[in-house]
Amino acid sequence: MSLDLSGLDADRIPRHVGLILDGNGRWANARGLPRTAGHAAGEAALFDTVEGALEIGIEWLSAYTFSTENWSRSEEEVEFLMWFNEDLLTRRRDDLHAQGVRMLFAGDMDDPRIPDRNRKHMAEAAEMTAGNTDLSLVFAFNYGSRREIVEATRSLAARAVAGEMTPDEIDETALAGSLYIPYMPDVDLIIRSSGEHRLSNFLLWQAAYAEFHFPGILWPDFDRQALLDSVLDYQSRDRRFGGAEDQVPD
Ligand code: IPE
Ligand code: IPE
Ligand code: MG
Repeated sequence: MSLDLSGLDADRIPRHVGLILDGNGRWANARGLPRTAGHAAGEAALFDTVEGALEIGIEWLSAYTFSTENWSRSEEEVEFLMWFNEDLLTRRRDDLHAQGVRMLFAGDMDDPRIPDRNRKHMAEAAEMTAGNTDLSLVFAFNYGSRREIVEATRSLAARAVAGEMTPDEIDETALAGSLYIPYMPDVDLIIRSSGEHRLSNFLLWQAAYAEFHFPGILWPDFDRQALLDSVLDYQSRDRRFGGAEDQVPD
């Protein structure tokens, strides 16, 4: 399926879109299915959205697939999500590679609760696709923005204690450069499906001037057309970055 891109302003494509894939459990509940069936149904939605991002010309797409708070779910659901995230990588990796997608991972990967096989497959997928340039697809897995900022702060403090930098040199650039993916650009548009209006610990630093879109559809019903609708809505916004209406800073 191809999108009708005629209404799109090619000069105002969001460079980085963040996706909070939410509503899988409700989608399954409405069908009398276990929550895990909702996660499985969300896979097709994610990869249709990835193809949409390639069509639209989005450079960076970050998908929130497991939060540092999601460990509090039932053992059965956590176990499923660990397995599913790994299984999905190994099944989709070659297709994504052929499509020119670079796969990146952001999160606390040292957490001993992450199975070793999963960690290994993430590293392999990242290595295999490292040279691709059409789209950078970030899997925010075992990701929590507060933990990311704490880890960055800790590494800067360690460098200061080691005499490699002075406290005065700790500025916004230094902190951004110590996050999980130091070269990841700020997020321009955050889309959260399901109708909830919250960030749930996603990209707090990177979203300082992001626009938000909240389509009232559950994640398994999301697709490339829904992504295009969000981007078109984004293009109708007046981004000011703190400037006045007629003098937006560069
Ligand atoms: C999002 O869907 C997927 C993950 C958190 C992994 P949910 O599982 O949160 O679905 P709802 O919000 O309960 O419907
Ligand atoms: C956010 O969704 C996390 C992911 C999509 C991975 P949640 O469903 O976990 O967030 P809350 O609990 O509704 O805030
Ligand atoms: Mg949810």
